[in-house]
Amino acid sequence: MRRGLRSKTSLCRLWVAVAVLVTGTIWLWSSSSIVLLGTYRVQDFVVNDLWRTADSNGWRASSAPRTYWLPPPTESESNGYVRVRCNGGLTQQRSAICNAVVVARIMNATLVLPELDTNSYWHDESGFVGIYDVPHFIKTLKYDVRIVMSLPKITAQGKTKKLRAHKMEPPRDAPVTWYRTTALEKIREHGAIYLTPFSHRLAEEIDEPELQRLRCRVNYHALQFKPNIRKTSSDIVNKLRSEGHFMSIHLRFELDMLAYAGCIDIFTPKEQEILLKYREEHFAKKKLVHRERRLIGKCPLTPEEVGLIIRAMGFDNTTRIYLASGELFGGERFMKPFKAMFPRLENHSMVGSGKLDKGLAGSAVDYMVCLLSDIFMPTYDGPSNFANNLMGHRLYSGFRATITPNRKALAPIFMDMDEGHASGYEERIRQVMFSTHFGAPHRRIHPESFYTNSWPECFCQMNARNQADQCPPNNVHDVLESQFHSTGEVSAAASAKR
Ligand SMILES: *[C@@H]1O[C@H](CO)[C@@H](O)[C@H](O)[C@H]1NC(C)=O
Ligand SMILES: *[C@@H]1O[C@H](CO)[C@@H](O)[C@H](O)[C@H]1NC(C)=O
Ligand SMILES: *[C@@H]1O[C@H](CO)[C@@H](O)[C@H](O)[C@H]1NC(C)=O
Repeated sequence: MRRGLRSKTSLCRLWVAVAVLVTGTIWLWSSSSIVLLGTYRVQDFVVNDLWRTADSNGWRASSAPRTYWLPPPTESESNGYVRVRCNGGLTQQRSAICNAVVVARIMNATLVLPELDTNSYWHDESGFVGIYDVPHFIKTLKYDVRIVMSLPKITAQGKTKKLRAHKMEPPRDAPVTWYRTTALEKIREHGAIYLTPFSHRLAEEIDEPELQRLRCRVNYHALQFKPNIRKTSSDIVNKLRSEGHFMSIHLRFELDMLAYAGCIDIFTPKEQEILLKYREEHFAKKKLVHRERRLIGKCPLTPEEVGLIIRAMGFDNTTRIYLASGELFGGERFMKPFKAMFPRLENHSMVGSGKLDKGLAGSAVDYMVCLLSDIFMPTYDGPSNFANNLMGHRLYSGFRATITPNRKALAPIFMDMDEGHASGYEERIRQVMFSTHFGAPHRRIHPESFYTNSWPECFCQMNARNQADQCPPNNVHDVLESQFHSTGEVSAAASAKR
């Protein structure tokens, strides 16, 4: 697309770019290739090409059904109601919502609008209706599940009262069979079940591509933030983009993350005390040695390391950076070296004109700005967090460029620097960085999450060699619409007969 418009004179550079982005870069590792590329060429390539989307290699996002897809059961056919309570931060709750829709579909049940945790970390009361566009959510999923706002009232022994849902705690990463047996039995018995807590309660790897595509329909089509959140986000994006490209960085250098990761040696004794106390109160006991954690890539990058990486890649001090993060731990001491390298740093409170900067809505704005930014860079990726879902979302919205530092491969370089052996570090960083995928389609390898990478299930090709990857026909919506109405008529006729 944009790459196709290039002049022929840059054919050589194009080849370099395509090779680096698409085929992976085994050859980059050989020293002769590095000599061949030279510092200037590598830098030139980054600054000019990384601002563009990654190469699609013929793939496009598609989560429409590719095989016959039954309309959801009508009220009389439904096996009962599923109520869920999602917990965690914005993104963990977002994947829980996707799972809830799939669970309702698996069970031929009616979904009660998922409840979001209001009394967790963020202390806000906004809930689903305060964050997401509810009519859009229900309408977008009408071919998939029936969704109601609350449990219905029932009349028993002359009294009308709300149907009571039977409480169940699904096992972590429960397989589809758990819902088709254990949960189904209870929903049939009680008419409604209440699944709580409901984060990570459905296995991510499901061997049914249509169900995985349903997850993508929820995540990337049905879940749309409310108009005020989208407006504030696009105002920020327009402001940032008024001067050209911008990069967003999820700087996960926060108290909870650092305490969880157990990387504390770089902090003062007082800070270490705070981290250890937090760790003791929130996480299971475990002996964590900073050096060992760092070597296996389990320490979040420090702000300075982030700066060194992007500078080594060839970004200069005019680069505009939007920082998405909560409160940075350790404060200015850690930010100073980063700011010295990249002075044009912005965050929500600086460009957001004071709107929606707290709680779930504040996270939602950061999420949107990172989604729409030209380049996104996470500094830590744990299971089902903000950065993970964003990487998946950016992949789905047209292979938007993502810089994914391989912390394990970078650790020895930074450790050498800490010990005073800095020579050649920029070249070493470049070697690591240019062997990553930059947001192009790539295979999902455990433990990478489905929410981080829904390729190939939610992507298709126009002329696919493998039939399963073939894009569905353009009129798939009409097909679903006619199936939806024809079964509607049939069941209406059937109930009229009764
Ligand atoms: C859901 O409905 C379909 C179509 O009627 C049926 O084939 C399937 O077995 C049902 N599944 C459950 C769990 O009720
Ligand atoms: C950016 O770096 C150049 C040197 O490469 C320097 O002259 C300039 O002052 C720097 N700009 C800022 C805003 O730090
Ligand atoms: C944004 O940056 C300002 C200035 O550096 C800082 O005081 C503030 O805490 C930051 N806000 C957030 C949400 O990170």
